Amino acid sequence: MRVLDVGCGLGGSAFLMAREHGVSVHALMSRPICSLAPERLRSQGLVSQVTLEHVDVLALPATSRYDVIYSRDVFLHIHDKPRLMEHLHSLLKPGGLLFFTDYGRGASMPSSEFVAYIEQRQYDLRTVNGYRVLLEQAALWKSSRRTIRRI
Ligand SMILES: C[S@@+](CC[C@H](N)C(=O)[O-])C[C@H]1O[C@@H](n2cnc3c(N)ncnc32)[C@H](O)[C@@H]1O
Repeated sequence: MRVLDVGCGLGGSAFLMAREHGVSVHALMSRPICSLAPERLRSQGLVSQVTLEHVDVLALPATSRYDVIYSRDVFLHIHDKPRLMEHLHSLLKPGGLLFFTDYGRGASMPSSEFVAYIEQRQYDLRTVNGYRVLLEQAALWKSSRRTIRRI
């Protein structure tokens, strides 16, 4: 199985998926945070299973397709969500699964402190329903396994 980890950070999830489940992982980060991810990849002996790449997911060519796209707490950094979802759709094999977590916001008007905080951090936060609409528009919401949960 081929997995795309969008925004892998230090690589913990990618390494765990490769080690525990024997999958091959293409792990992306927009820019290197530090040398820890490649160092840990080598020291854990996972070089043949995990490929680390510094690239914006929106610039990743849709020449390869994946069985699973996984992303933990990254989409808040990407403002053009319709483009992101369309691109993820083009990167998934037919019947593939998108699994992601993200920081979100409630449907009611946030406090001015929260608005200022989001602006200062340059986050783009969506509601659970907002995500559902985006997923539907990109035809990513048609699997029988679909689930969206607030936690
Ligand atoms: C909060 S960290 C999350 C890291 C990891 N998923 C985790 O759970 O520990 C955000 C990560 O998203 C990556 N990122 C942000 N925007 C991105 C983009 N447009 N394309 C690829 N990676 C991106 C950053 O490089 C960073 O690795």
